[in-house]
Amino acid sequence: MEVKCLKNQHEALEKVVEIKGLKKSYENGKIKALDGVDLEIKKGEFVSIIGPSGSGKSTLLNMLGALDLPTEGKINVASYDLTKTKDLNNFRSKEIGFIFQLHNLIPNLTVLENVEIPMYESRLSSKKMHERALKLLDYVGLQEKASRKPTQLSGGERQRVAIARALANNPSIILADEPTGSLDSKTGQMILQRLKEIHEKEKVTLIMVTHDMGVASLAERTIEVLDGKIKA
Ligand SMILES: Nc1ncnc2c1ncn2[C@@H]1O[C@H](COP(=O)(O)OP(=O)(O)OP(=O)(O)O)[C@@H](O)[C@H]1O
Ligand SMILES: [Mg+2]
Repeated sequence: MEVKCLKNQHEALEKVVEIKGLKKSYENGKIKALDGVDLEIKKGEFVSIIGPSGSGKSTLLNMLGALDLPTEGKINVASYDLTKTKDLNNFRSKEIGFIFQLHNLIPNLTVLENVEIPMYESRLSSKKMHERALKLLDYVGLQEKASRKPTQLSGGERQRVAIARALANNPSIILADEPTGSLDSKTGQMILQRLKEIHEKEKVTLIMVTHDMGVASLAERTIEVLDGKIKA
């Protein structure tokens, strides 16, 4: 009996994502973006999500990062029950690093300031935030461009800033929506290499949406989304 309890506890710790019967609809139920998704992801896994345009991939990723709330169902991420968590900002700033397809950098802030944003909720002094942001920019090879504005960078460079920003709060989970979608294959490869390295070295759980099967195959597991459901 005791052994079983311990085993269950261990398994509970291992799961970083637990989704059951998740539904998300828009326009009073006319659009069913997610239509009953069950999904489990283990801590430290690298999972890719594929599927046709409009199938619900971004909606799923947004649910995982609590950027949006489900219409129905259960969603647990990093032991937070997202339908019951009041302070979702706190959840995001502690656990999640986002990389969006269109990188979403803030145009009137410098590269360095963009990387500092996720640290605002932390208790770091501005000097420490500054140092950490510079270190992260160095990691993606952009330290010398720290004082530029995003518009003064190439697409690949902007995406590297987005990676540095996603790492700033030391997240346990990185959610990446087509991180290489708008890049040429060489730059895309470099970005993927960096992400894979972070996943392997830091044991970060990496969940990445892509429409490219070659990119998807880098992951340990691929999930296919079709019409708001996960294809078995
Ligand atoms: N805010 C919204 N209001 C209404 N419908 C929406 C909204 N967001 C998404 N949808 C719809 O939900 C469905 C799923 O959209 P989603 O963005 O998740 O697709 P996707 O798989 O990421 O597609 P893509 O590969 O083109 O990025 C689509 O039919 C889309 O039009
Ligand atoms: Mg999408």
